[in-house]
Amino acid sequence: MPNRFTQCLTGSTGVLGVIGDPIGHSLSPAMHNAALQALGKDYVYVPFSVSALHVQEAMAGMRALGIKGLNVTIPHKVAVADYLDEIDPVAQLIGAVNTISNQTGRLVGYNTDGYGFLRSLKEEAGCDPKGLRVMIIGAGGAARAIGFQLALSKARALVVSNRTESRAVALAAEIHKQTGCSAIGIGFRELNSYLLSTDILVNTTSLGMYPEVATIPPLEIEHLPQTALICDIVYNPNKTLLIQKAAASGRATLPGLGMLAYQGAAALEIWLQVKAPVDVMKTALQRQLSAALDI
Ligand code: ATR
Repeated sequence: MPNRFTQCLTGSTGVLGVIGDPIGHSLSPAMHNAALQALGKDYVYVPFSVSALHVQEAMAGMRALGIKGLNVTIPHKVAVADYLDEIDPVAQLIGAVNTISNQTGRLVGYNTDGYGFLRSLKEEAGCDPKGLRVMIIGAGGAARAIGFQLALSKARALVVSNRTESRAVALAAEIHKQTGCSAIGIGFRELNSYLLSTDILVNTTSLGMYPEVATIPPLEIEHLPQTALICDIVYNPNKTLLIQKAAASGRATLPGLGMLAYQGAAALEIWLQVKAPVDVMKTALQRQLSAALDI
């Protein structure tokens, strides 16, 4: 049966995509194909299920097939770096790649996760982190990307708070060493005592994510200044319990969908040198998320 793609694919259609495992629930194909259609670009964006055993072959395949760009998701963001020709300095600092651009056979790796958060912060919350004190909850891959990006954006100080305190301490030490930004790592036990001196709080853990929607990071929102901005990178649901409680307390909030859209927008801009239609991408994400919840 013909679908809209079989009617519009041509001999010159370019290919973009995402590799990961699992990949079946990725929202990126819907977001990027909506953007490509809105831009009138002769490209298609395809999900590729690639196991950890086949990352090297996937990179060789990208070269051989002339795939113009790939996003990289769990669990390949670190492993893929070994097979690239060049890695952008920000991705090197973060130690992970989420975007690969095929520049006439030369594979260049980038990381747009932290940049996506920064653009969401600036454009959706009207907040420039320069000179501000940030608390990051979590110390995994997302915390690394956001922490380094905020340090590079001249945040005044970072507090990394994590369930496993040693990971928070290690990440904060690395950010401080590499960027000079003041950074400390603490466990959840000490978290509340740092809230009074926090301007921006970012949850990077999966607490609050579907189906565990009743979970929330262990913090007393009332200890934050009334002017603090509370951000969550969880986008399913977009209004997590943390975002709901922060909003009910009268504080400004930033949900996670924007970061997802802007990291995708940044990838599209790297691949095609165009201005990405961020609103179209957000609408596609929202549509896809509501459809997933209806199942
Ligand atoms: P990601 O790349 O999405 O950041 P990750 O690298 O697996 O994923 O990191 C997950 C983060 O969420 C970690 O900070 C983890 O805390 P630990 O280092 O203590 O494991 C945090 N996390 C996940 N589930 C959690 C839970 N139930 N309570 C508290 N923190 C949790």
